Amino acid sequence: MAEELLISTSVEKAERYETLLPQIEGLVSGEADLIANLSNIAAALKQAMNFFWVGFYLVKEKQLVLGPFQGPIACTRIEYGRGVCGYAWKEKKTVIVPNVEEFPGHIACSSASQSEIVLPAFKSGQVALVLDVDSDKLNDFDKKDQEGLEKLMRIIERIL
Ligand code: SME
Repeated sequence: MAEELLISTSVEKAERYETLLPQIEGLVSGEADLIANLSNIAAALKQAMNFFWVGFYLVKEKQLVLGPFQGPIACTRIEYGRGVCGYAWKEKKTVIVPNVEEFPGHIACSSASQSEIVLPAFKSGQVALVLDVDSDKLNDFDKKDQEGLEKLMRIIERIL
């Protein structure tokens, strides 16, 4: 496992994802514990991308339950179909919300959050967890985030 991340925060974000993803693969290789790996992934994303809030919700029975994250304290449980996270779980797809005020049923864990991206990871065709990233700026997520983070979800699926 690498001792520290090598990321320049001054480069464009597509390049940051490109340099970050192989390092995340290195971080999780050789460690079998899912929570340990998700914890380091959340920390790596926070450090490299400077996200306001980044973390995981794990599917446990009929709910999403808060997992490893970085940022302010957050809601611990989300029902199927509720909020952006529950919607991404139900629809089994990436959801980008440019303005959370305009998303019906958005769950405001922090009043500072203004835009959001949520991505599912699958195990045996079922959603096993979602990655949630919040920004304190409007319209902060785009195709580059979707592409970079979807590649990350495929890495995570290999360790689920
Ligand atoms: N906003 C999310 C809830 C989780 S927090 O943002 C960390 C939602 O609507 O599902």
